Amino acid sequence: MDKYFCEEIKMNYMQIINKHYTFGTDLYNLYISHVKKVTEKALGVAKKNPQLNADLKFIEEAAMLHDIGIFMCNAPTIFCVGKEPYIQHGILGRHILEIEGFSKHSLVCERHTGTGITKKEIIKRNLPLPQRDMIPISIEEKIISFADLFFSKLHPEREKSIDEIKKDISKHGVEKIKVFENWIKLFNYDRL
Ligand SMILES: [Fe+2]
Repeated sequence: MDKYFCEEIKMNYMQIINKHYTFGTDLYNLYISHVKKVTEKALGVAKKNPQLNADLKFIEEAAMLHDIGIFMCNAPTIFCVGKEPYIQHGILGRHILEIEGFSKHSLVCERHTGTGITKKEIIKRNLPLPQRDMIPISIEEKIISFADLFFSKLHPEREKSIDEIKKDISKHGVEKIKVFENWIKLFNYDRL
């Protein structure tokens, strides 16, 4: 019997990606190259830190799907011609994966933006988001968010340096750098 029979619906992330992205288009190619890089990086971090007991299968699935909502957003430089503001790609992704029946994966979509977005920030910056904390909580969520920071979608093949990441995230406040530095320690990244 299928081992997933009594658990969740079996996860086939490529099927979900192919439902929303058309094979061979610029957006498809960008999506796949970005999420593959993030997945590879996240799995590398998890494997080098067995003490964290991260679920590798979940990391692969959720990292491949973390940006599933971008097609609904308006970001023409990365071939996204939807209507919604880009900052909503996380909550849109959450909605898509919830409909698919993957509530745990859907939280990765909602919580992965930068080092996470707090309720306080949403209110203070008047962001078009529901007023709740959207910060990575589980170890898998933290690893995927950390890995995502190394890759921009504008230059999917290039990996950013630690200093570049710090410079980028500092635009949203110094506390972001603290979160990132804590992750570097948690993942023994300086020793990887
Ligand atoms: Fe991403």
